[in-house]
Amino acid sequence: MPLSIRRATLADAEALSAIAIATYTETWGDSYPPQDLHDFLQAHYSTVPQQQELADPRSAIWLLHEGDAVVGYLAAGANTLPHADAAEGDIELKRLYVSARHQGSGHGARLMDTFMAWLDHPQRRRLWVGVWEDNLGAQRFYARYGCRKAGEYDFIVGASRDREFILCRP
Ligand SMILES: CC(C)(COP(=O)(O)OP(=O)(O)OC[C@H]1O[C@@H](n2cnc3c(N)ncnc32)[C@H](O)[C@@H]1OP(=O)(O)O)[C@@H](O)C(=O)NCCC(=O)NCCS
Repeated sequence: MPLSIRRATLADAEALSAIAIATYTETWGDSYPPQDLHDFLQAHYSTVPQQQELADPRSAIWLLHEGDAVVGYLAAGANTLPHADAAEGDIELKRLYVSARHQGSGHGARLMDTFMAWLDHPQRRRLWVGVWEDNLGAQRFYARYGCRKAGEYDFIVGASRDREFILCRP
């Protein structure tokens, strides 16, 4: 079945929460103690925070569908990454996830192309992305879109501090 992409609306908070929790757990679930993971997911990816993210006029979120099922998503919004050059109006790619069984088939690139078209219309905006220092696949992926390393920061989940690279597309 061909997969389709559509912009998420406020009515998608539950579906967005479900795919955000499923893909985060699939990707990083073994990296944190279960309670830390649970608390992080509830605080950031449960329905209420996802509703708030969808309601923010600076947010833009797309869902990847296989029929009725959501199998990936891309979430962007106002930049919050700590960098001296970051300015009002800059956009952050906050999360990009495709379910493991659909990875490597170009769907991540299609989500990214959809997002980049939005980002650069009606005029080009500066893009920030945070990515784990050891996630070389994702770094290669973002490099294809002109994102280059501009700094580093710590991403905190419970007691864990992960070193993340801050990438920027000027
Ligand atoms: C990153 C991701 C969204 C790319 O989507 P995709 O549909 O697999 O990507 P595409 O098929 O369009 O492109 C393939 C490219 O994605 C990257 N990639 C592939 N598998 C990956 C993985 N498991 N983790 C990270 N990046 C990966 C690579 O750059 C790959 O190119 P390569 O062939 O040169 O290695 C997807 O792999 C994913 O969800 N990974 C896990 C979550 C993640 O790391 N998200 C980014 C965190 S910020």
